[in-house]
Amino acid sequence: MSEVRQRQKSNKAGGSSNSSNNNKKPSSKAPKNARGGISILDLIRVLATLVIASCGLSYYMTSSESLLWGYRPWFTRLPVVMRFLQGPLTLTPAQLSLYNGTDPTLPLYVSVNGTIFDVSANPMVYGPGGHYNFFAGRDATRAFVTGCFQEDLTHDLTGVEEMFMPVDDPAELAALSSGERKKRREQDVRYARSRIERAVSHWQNFFRNHKRYFEVGRVVGLEVSGEGEKRELCQAARQQRPTRKQVVEALAAGKR
Ligand code: HEM
Repeated sequence: MSEVRQRQKSNKAGGSSNSSNNNKKPSSKAPKNARGGISILDLIRVLATLVIASCGLSYYMTSSESLLWGYRPWFTRLPVVMRFLQGPLTLTPAQLSLYNGTDPTLPLYVSVNGTIFDVSANPMVYGPGGHYNFFAGRDATRAFVTGCFQEDLTHDLTGVEEMFMPVDDPAELAALSSGERKKRREQDVRYARSRIERAVSHWQNFFRNHKRYFEVGRVVGLEVSGEGEKRELCQAARQQRPTRKQVVEALAAGKR
């Protein structure tokens, strides 16, 4: 009899514990997938894995250059941030000449039309022994336009207009009145100046927009040839003068 009572008791106890178990909410520790849902933690894990995999692949594909597939905003480049914090640099031509790679502790600078750019990222080209080392440590705007890398390593653009002045047929020129010739020359000078401006801004923009170079400041005290002083145009540039026909065609193409 007492045995039966004991069994009933234990059944009651077991029953109540079962029913309490059945009413219990599922434990928060139970895996979410078991309920078919995805938690925020799961999403974060997946995203983190994708980001890490993408960075790793980018690092491998870009030969250890970038974790972001070549995207390098300026604020992730320490020298650019340092220059930004220090403000723009102002150098005289003599000071600028120190930044030509001779002193390995100094950065490599080139200057175009008075604007200095840091090109230290490319020592193979601008450093000692590099093909374009002669551009480092100076403002050689003239050589950027003429391509005369020996004679024109100066900022002075005096007389470079001649490089873009059209070569006329002498017979055709002789047929013009002096007024017509004067007018034509004025037009030619305007055209030549616009071509120089275009060449200079091409190189300035090349350095300014280059993903590995950056602007650092200005050169001050660049002297220009005096009024009336004519600097000879180098031979290679003289040989590049366009014919009248080429200029007419170029102007027509520009208007189209
Ligand atoms: C007005 C004429 C020219 C100017 C101002 C000029 C300027 C430059 C500059 C500044 C660079 C370096 C680009 C960088 O920072 O990545 C460069 C690179 C280069 N240029 Fe020129 N260039 C001229 C004409 C030429 C010509 C005619 C040739 C071919 C015969 C040439 C061949 C090269 C080569 C192969 C490079 C790659 C870098 C190297 O291996 O040194 N350039 N040029």
